Amino acid sequence: MERLEAALEKARQSRESIRTEPKPEVVRPVPASGPAELWHQLKEFKISSRAARSHRITTLTNNKLSSPYDLLRSRVMRLMRENDWQTLAVTSPNVACGKTTVCANLAISLSRQPDTRVLVIDLDLRRPSLHRILSYRPNQSFHEVLEGKIRAEDQLVRFGDNLAFGLNNKPARNPSELLQSNHCQTVLTQVRTAFKPDIVIFDLPPMMVSDDNVAFLPTVDAGLLVSAADSTTVSQVDVCEKEMAELTNPLGVILNKCRYSQEDTGYGNEYY
Ligand SMILES: Nc1ncnc2c1ncn2[C@@H]1O[C@H](COP(=O)(O)OP(=O)(O)OP(=O)(O)O)[C@@H](O)[C@H]1O
Ligand SMILES: [Mg+2]
Repeated sequence: MERLEAALEKARQSRESIRTEPKPEVVRPVPASGPAELWHQLKEFKISSRAARSHRITTLTNNKLSSPYDLLRSRVMRLMRENDWQTLAVTSPNVACGKTTVCANLAISLSRQPDTRVLVIDLDLRRPSLHRILSYRPNQSFHEVLEGKIRAEDQLVRFGDNLAFGLNNKPARNPSELLQSNHCQTVLTQVRTAFKPDIVIFDLPPMMVSDDNVAFLPTVDAGLLVSAADSTTVSQVDVCEKEMAELTNPLGVILNKCRYSQEDTGYGNEYY
């Protein structure tokens, strides 16, 4: 545990030491079109059922395998609405707990409610993988939107009518500096103002590997911690939950990858 606390402390110190603001190359104003028109104009992509199966996307239709995510959706939406929150960060203590899989499935489950506009942004700028799970590789990366190089409406892609993704095809050069920059927050605010999503979900890196969470969590309304039954220890969850509570409103902890002997799927998710 000392190692984990030391890592978090190091991350905090490193955040303090990095104050260099990346210079935006171009700042493009958000267009005057209304949100419905902007959503409609986004490039649309589809997920084949084969790709969905191989990346554990189980929420394309309402079925037995989508029910854990549908339950999570209901709880998330209730808490978000009750508190008037719109932005949710998804992170985990250690790597490969299933954050990106949870982000994709939670977002698709939310978007099956036709009156809910959902925007998901891949902010794991060191090892972006949401594009891989969705089996869609964009030509340009969302981090280029954050850097002011391209416009959000040219980069975001739409899945169905009311779900949009900001994906990356490669890591960003200076992820910490970018996430800590005022320019990044300005762009994200512009995107929310223009597209008016009901909820924005950010896929973040694990808390124990970088200071990105320390920098970014204070800018969101709530955070969800994904732990993996096969690799996350109770004390890691404990430390990261406390850390999250210092930085944003903790929405809950997901226990992912837990094996149920009575389930024919073999794996499941639980929330508290
Ligand atoms: N409930 C589950 N049961 C079994 N395997 C799962 C489950 N959820 C995700 N996985 C698998 O675990 C691996 C890691 O998933 P994912 O990429 O979503 O995790 P991550 O936390 O985003 O990883 P990283 O820390 O690298 O960003 C993938 O192979 C994924 O298919
Ligand atoms: Mg991930």
